[in-house]
Amino acid sequence: MSRMPVIKIYHSSENLAVAAAAEFRQLAESAIARRGQFSVALSGGRTPERFLRQLAEPIDIVWEKVHFFWSDERCVPPDHADSNYGMANRTLFRKIKIPPQNIHRIRGEAEAHAEAKRYEAEIRRQLSVPGNAVPEFDLILLGLGMDGHTASLFPGQETPGILDRLCAVGRHPQTGQLRVTITLPLINAAREVLFLIAGESKAEIVARILHRQPESADYPAAQVAPIPGIYFWYLDRASARLI
Ligand code: 6PG
Repeated sequence: MSRMPVIKIYHSSENLAVAAAAEFRQLAESAIARRGQFSVALSGGRTPERFLRQLAEPIDIVWEKVHFFWSDERCVPPDHADSNYGMANRTLFRKIKIPPQNIHRIRGEAEAHAEAKRYEAEIRRQLSVPGNAVPEFDLILLGLGMDGHTASLFPGQETPGILDRLCAVGRHPQTGQLRVTITLPLINAAREVLFLIAGESKAEIVARILHRQPESADYPAAQVAPIPGIYFWYLDRASARLI
C-alpha cells in the first residue's frame, strides 16, 4: 500500500452511512462555495445503499450544483437489478429535486469500449480541465471487494495498470460480466477518496491491505493513493475486526 488512509471505525454500518452522508454534505457545501459545483463519483455494489438513503433525508444541499458520476457500472440496462445507477435512482434520485442533466450515468446498455470513451469525454467536459490534464473530482467513493478489487479494477487484469486513460473496460472474474470503470490516474487525482467498507466478509481483506501483507501490493485497492488529496477508509466494527 503506497499510502495509508485515515481510518475511521463506526459501531455499525448504519452509523457509517450517517457519517459518510455528513462528510458528503460538508464537502458539497465547501466545493459549491469555492467552485460553484460539487462533482462526486458514487461507488457501486450494496454497501452504498444505506449511505444513499441517508442523503435522501431532508438535508440542505443545493442539488442543482451537485453532479453525480459513478466509479463504475455493470454493462446492463439501467433498470436491471445489477445496475449501480438503478440502485441510486431508487434510493436517492427519485426522492430529491436534481436536474436530470446532473446525473451522468454510465450507459450500461451501450457497447462497453465505446461507452468508456464517451464517459471519459463527459467527465472531461463537466470537470472542464485544460488539455490532457487529469480531472479532479471533489469526491470519489469506492468499495472494496474480497479479492482486493475496487471500482471494477480487478487483480490480474490489465485495467489497474492503465495510466493513459481515465476510463476502461473490466470483466468480473467470477461472472464474466463486463464493467465500465474509472482508472487509477483519475481516482488518485481526486480531492478526496473515501472507501465505504462494511461487513464481516471484508475483515480479512481489510487486514491484509492495512497490515501491508506482501501479496497485498498487487491489489488494485492498495494502489489507491490520492496525492495531494485527502484519503479515508470508513469501516464498521465487523469489517475492522482484524485490524
Ligand atoms: C461494483 C463496485 C465494486 C464494489 C465492491 C464492494 O460495481 O460492484 O464498484 O467495486 O464497490 O465489490 O461491493 P459490496 O458493497 O456489494 O460489498
